[in-house]
Amino acid sequence: MQAVPKTQESTLRAMEAIVGANACRTGEADTQAYVTDYRGIYRGQAQVVVLPSSTEQVSQVLQWCHANRVPVVPQGGNTSLMGGAVPDDSGTAVVVNLSRMNRVLEVDTINDTMTVQAGVTLSAARGAAEAEGRLFPLRIGSEGSCQIGGNLSTNAGGTAVLRYGNMRDLVLGIEAVLPDGRIFSSLRGLRKDNTGYDLKQLFIGAEGTLGIITGAVLKLMPQPRSTAVALVAVKGPAAAVALLGEAKRLSGQAVSAFELISRPALELVLEYLGNVAAPLQDRHDWMVLVELTSGTDAESLNATLMEILESGFGQGLVLDAAVAASLSDVQTFWRIREEISDAQTRTGGSIKCDVSVPLSRIAAFVEEASAGVLALVPDARMVIYGHMGDGNVHFNPLRPRDQAAKDFLAQWYEPVSTLVDGLAYAGNGSVSAEHGIGVAKRDDLVRYKSQVELELMWQVKRALDPMNLLNPGKVLPAP
Ligand code: MLT
Ligand code: ZN
Repeated sequence: MQAVPKTQESTLRAMEAIVGANACRTGEADTQAYVTDYRGIYRGQAQVVVLPSSTEQVSQVLQWCHANRVPVVPQGGNTSLMGGAVPDDSGTAVVVNLSRMNRVLEVDTINDTMTVQAGVTLSAARGAAEAEGRLFPLRIGSEGSCQIGGNLSTNAGGTAVLRYGNMRDLVLGIEAVLPDGRIFSSLRGLRKDNTGYDLKQLFIGAEGTLGIITGAVLKLMPQPRSTAVALVAVKGPAAAVALLGEAKRLSGQAVSAFELISRPALELVLEYLGNVAAPLQDRHDWMVLVELTSGTDAESLNATLMEILESGFGQGLVLDAAVAASLSDVQTFWRIREEISDAQTRTGGSIKCDVSVPLSRIAAFVEEASAGVLALVPDARMVIYGHMGDGNVHFNPLRPRDQAAKDFLAQWYEPVSTLVDGLAYAGNGSVSAEHGIGVAKRDDLVRYKSQVELELMWQVKRALDPMNLLNPGKVLPAP
């Protein structure tokens, strides 16, 4: 059903009555940051942006919007790469931004859980866990701004999935407000609870289309006692996968990250950072950032890393390696990896494919997709990087230096993403491994999901949000 726009005045008055005038934003200047995504690609409009401070307020906002058929766009740190957290340009929506719900409610060091409001940033959640000697292991580049509610709504992944899993694996309970204002809660911190459907799963990865997540119980892990990191030049993607096998064999559970970095990705980020020296002396086509963490002492972990590298050299998989000798080296190596995304944003003209295939196929996928793209665009800079250890690569061909970003995207976005996504799909993969769907990939789902899957998605949506008021136009392609 079409949402009926209300006049801004009546909506504003209603919202002010619920959250207070100081927690409402209207007008272009004051809403700009909430209606534009952080890459500046998706720009919408809102009747009003509200910043509730409690679950009860979120519930009242949704009750009012439901009664008045006003669409609602939930928003956390607004770091979505897919346009999932900003409204469309109709100006009918109320944006509900969770930033003020930023309290860590409890850290339970016996249950090894942490209860948080949804607006807690990922870095604050990690910090609160660390203060109690625990690790909350989700690690993504935007941790300073992204929020736990958004991490859950997109089932965020990042660089530690190989060891600890996605956000879905890191949560025990959720509180969410339904489109009609009812509050669903499973904030119990149980590791076992087989009492029927696991309803919290519905809200994870739903990108705010089924409810607004307002709180969560997260799993905590022991803080590792030692970390060993190396940037390793490898013979190629297949050698990288073989090296990962060696790393697992020789270290048991200690591999906590295994990130692929192509030469154009490294060159781009070093150019962007300006004052950071290349860790490896020679230029190599393929590198991996390997991180081991463990509960053992640093000496034995370093010895394990050396053993892995020696085995890699011995088998001709490894060409060179820079082992981090200090905390500052560790930080620099990680900075190089994590800034690749921003380096692309600043350069502009990046075709951001976020694909996964089973690990057994990832090397062949990277080779085939690279050859396919270069056959189309011989001068494209093949910025390929990311979480190879869990089968997910960010395959992001970048515009040639002499082509303007908008011309490159107009000419190549469609053919290149169709080719790359098509190869991933053909290899039993996913066309959105960790970034979600938002609006960017919504219409592609028709190609990559079966009729049954699409029908079920719509049936779930209609069951929870029959008036299509929550984050309309996101995730689900037209029925
Ligand atoms: C990353 O791994 O750096 C993120 O997923 C962001 C990105 O791909 O742009
Ligand atoms: Zn990523």
